Amino acid sequence: MKLAWPIELVSTGVCLPDRVVLNDHLAETVDTSDEWIVQRTGISQRRWSAEGQSTLALATDASREALKAADATPQDLDAIVVATITPEHPLPATATLLQAELGCGWIPAYDMAAACSGFVWALLNACQHVVCGMAERVLVVGAECLTTITDMQDRATCILFGDAAGAVVLRKTDDPDKGILAARWGADGDRGRLIMIPAGGSKHPASHTTIDERMHYMKMAGREVYKFAVTQMEEVIRETCADAGVSIDDVKLIVPHQSNLRIIESACKRAGLSMERVLVNIDRYGNTSAASVPVALHEALQSGRCAPGDLVLLVAFGAGLTWGSALLRI
Ligand code: UT7
Repeated sequence: MKLAWPIELVSTGVCLPDRVVLNDHLAETVDTSDEWIVQRTGISQRRWSAEGQSTLALATDASREALKAADATPQDLDAIVVATITPEHPLPATATLLQAELGCGWIPAYDMAAACSGFVWALLNACQHVVCGMAERVLVVGAECLTTITDMQDRATCILFGDAAGAVVLRKTDDPDKGILAARWGADGDRGRLIMIPAGGSKHPASHTTIDERMHYMKMAGREVYKFAVTQMEEVIRETCADAGVSIDDVKLIVPHQSNLRIIESACKRAGLSMERVLVNIDRYGNTSAASVPVALHEALQSGRCAPGDLVLLVAFGAGLTWGSALLRI
């Protein structure tokens, strides 16, 4: 849909765990190889959290960096939204714990569970608070400790995921050259079980059986998700630009969810985009779900791949199945 939201991305921050895990390390425990992983996914390495470095710890570090870069204090924030599928605890929302950790005061703080689309959805949600006048400055975080839900015996998934957090401070702006021009979001629940964690919810509460059967780990029908991802990503890129009335050629940089290099390349090729205009960092971090887009956005801004005045398109898809996009004039 076409939008004219007067929102400015003030700053970004990230937290990437120190531990770098190479493909060869995974090949020591499951039947895989560096060659297979690089060819099929584009991933060479990923980061894994240290013992005790939980989602909240990652989110806190990324948020502090974003606040510092915004020259803002925690008290300047009016709300916090955290996108995650690996919350600190099932209850309460990780965002509330982050609020306390940062020392923000009693501002609203809640989580968004839309998997890899989570950060884009959280961003759109946060923007609505600003547009409605319920907040002026909001912290939006995507944070994941995916290693806690990854089955390290399943070669089809354990090669893909990593841990990370990315944060953004956004606020209302009077600058007519900045803002969100268009966005898309949606979900197809019929395909909801293509990526799932079977146990730990009300259907299969934790029990000895659920643990013995490894039901607390993420299961994924990779091929089906792959096909959905390529077509949906291409469509969402086209539709979002059309909604805004801009040509795809006007977009300076696409910042896609980093799921698989082949997915990104195929979708962008179909949309008529050359890879020079696409931010790719999956080779270094793997798939970090809700953290993927904010980490990539941070890198894009830090490296000068996009600058004030540019059109930047965020696009993501994931479990649900969900998708989301946001076209920003930064
Ligand atoms: O974040 C959003 C959600 N997730 C995604 O977007 C992920 C989408 N899916 C994918 O990225 C890809 O489907 C995967 C990377 C997960 C798998 O790649 P693929 O090219 O679709 O492989 P496949 O599942 O069709 O499997 C091909 C073969 C199979 O062997 P057979 O049956 O042909 O003998 C698999 O058992 O590759 C085998 N295989 C592996 N071989 C070596 C699967 N995983 C591995 C592995 N190492 N790690």
